Amino acid sequence: MTNWRIRDFHSADLDGILHLWESLKATNVEPVYALSEVLASCEKDHAVVAVQGEQVVGAAVGRAAHDQGWIVFLATLPEFRGRGIGTSLLASVENRMAPHGLNKLSALMPESETRVEAFLSRGFVLKKNLRYFERRIPVQRQELEPLSQLGGRILARDLWENVAGMRNEKELLERRLVLPLAEADLADEYGVVPPRAVVLFGPPGTGKTTFAKAIASRLEWPFVEVFPSRLASDPMGLAGALRETFLEIAELEHAVVFIDEVEEIASQRSGEPPSPLQGVTNELLKIIPAFREQPGRLLVCATNFIRALDSAFLRHGRFDYVIPIGLPDRLAREAMWQRFIPATVVDDVDVELLVDRTEGFSPADIEYAARSASQRALESAVYGMDSDGGASVREAVRKGPATQDYLDAIADTRTTVSAEVQQEFLEDIDLLGRV
Ligand SMILES: Nc1ncnc2c1ncn2[C@@H]1O[C@H](COP(=O)(O)OP(=O)(O)OP(=O)(O)O)[C@@H](O)[C@H]1O
Ligand SMILES: [Mg+2]
Repeated sequence: MTNWRIRDFHSADLDGILHLWESLKATNVEPVYALSEVLASCEKDHAVVAVQGEQVVGAAVGRAAHDQGWIVFLATLPEFRGRGIGTSLLASVENRMAPHGLNKLSALMPESETRVEAFLSRGFVLKKNLRYFERRIPVQRQELEPLSQLGGRILARDLWENVAGMRNEKELLERRLVLPLAEADLADEYGVVPPRAVVLFGPPGTGKTTFAKAIASRLEWPFVEVFPSRLASDPMGLAGALRETFLEIAELEHAVVFIDEVEEIASQRSGEPPSPLQGVTNELLKIIPAFREQPGRLLVCATNFIRALDSAFLRHGRFDYVIPIGLPDRLAREAMWQRFIPATVVDDVDVELLVDRTEGFSPADIEYAARSASQRALESAVYGMDSDGGASVREAVRKGPATQDYLDAIADTRTTVSAEVQQEFLEDIDLLGRV
């Protein structure tokens, strides 16, 4: 005797759907569509339920997308299986979707799903040799709005891989920052307290900003840069605007927050009368402890002048690590040259020689030398042509920059980091570095 019947879904059935969902989960079935998707489809797409008396004992939910429809949920309470309820639910949801003129109806079900018969009896064919792929996207839609107000953004996914060389720095950042933040549960099991704030310091152009972005990309967290110079014009004043900005950041689920040239707002507090920036430094000193209490975020401050920072700013408890980012080693320089030399000519260029000749160059210097070599080579190929423009000349035009072009450009590049600055950096590592 059938004492159940099928009817359209009403909002009052949501509890029943939840109960069905839980009964599925209780049997260790991991449905393909998330609960939030199923519930949204119940309200906005097509849903039918099987009820016995008032109780929801089964449900089918479908969604039409252009010509193809999807069954996003099909479930029957375990004690009601084997009575043809699944088949009736499918038939009914199909009817509801029919006006869309679908030419295909599909369903993705967990392998352990037992209601195969319901699909087969409705004429579905089990497809073999398909694989289901899924990737979690960490930023929720509701976060996009506050994020864009902060000028934050989701960075490309490959920035970490694109940091050439710098193996030691990368390994350090991977171990100390990325691992405990990305594997928060595991870190917790080991009693590791995830880092909340770090300082990157080093000479100009060594890749501090690049690393800050790469960390955000690696964690798949949004990147929010705080620009003190922009906040300074706020009617609240810099300190007030800074406080406000961090309150907004607190609304985000995850974020890598970046303050570049932090020495500008956190330099040694000294002098009589106190400079107006001292209030800002004090504000920042108050902001950091509050920031540290929230999980899922990391503050990265960068500076070229670590010595100029207020000593209270750097002390333990505010920043977990004070990490030097120095000039690139051989491997890093090699990787950078490989990147900057066009692929069409790289095999003909003596990269090892360029690596030798660019000791003491920052990544920015190497990039500059590489660009100017390309520019020169292009100019001399085009404007250095004989007036008759013979075939051999056109050949040369096509060749691209050669080793000598690079060596000339290197010789003409003034390195950003002088020996003196480099020496100071090494002293800073000893005195202030904390990894
Ligand atoms: N490891 C790297 N691989 C490839 N390019 C790099 C690397 N590090 C830095 N660069 C390039 O060098 C330039 C300078 O890097 P970046 O701006 O990150 O340095 P910085 O330390 O933040 O400099 P500043 O101290 O001036 O703020 C950028 O164009 C960046 O793309
Ligand atoms: Mg920078």
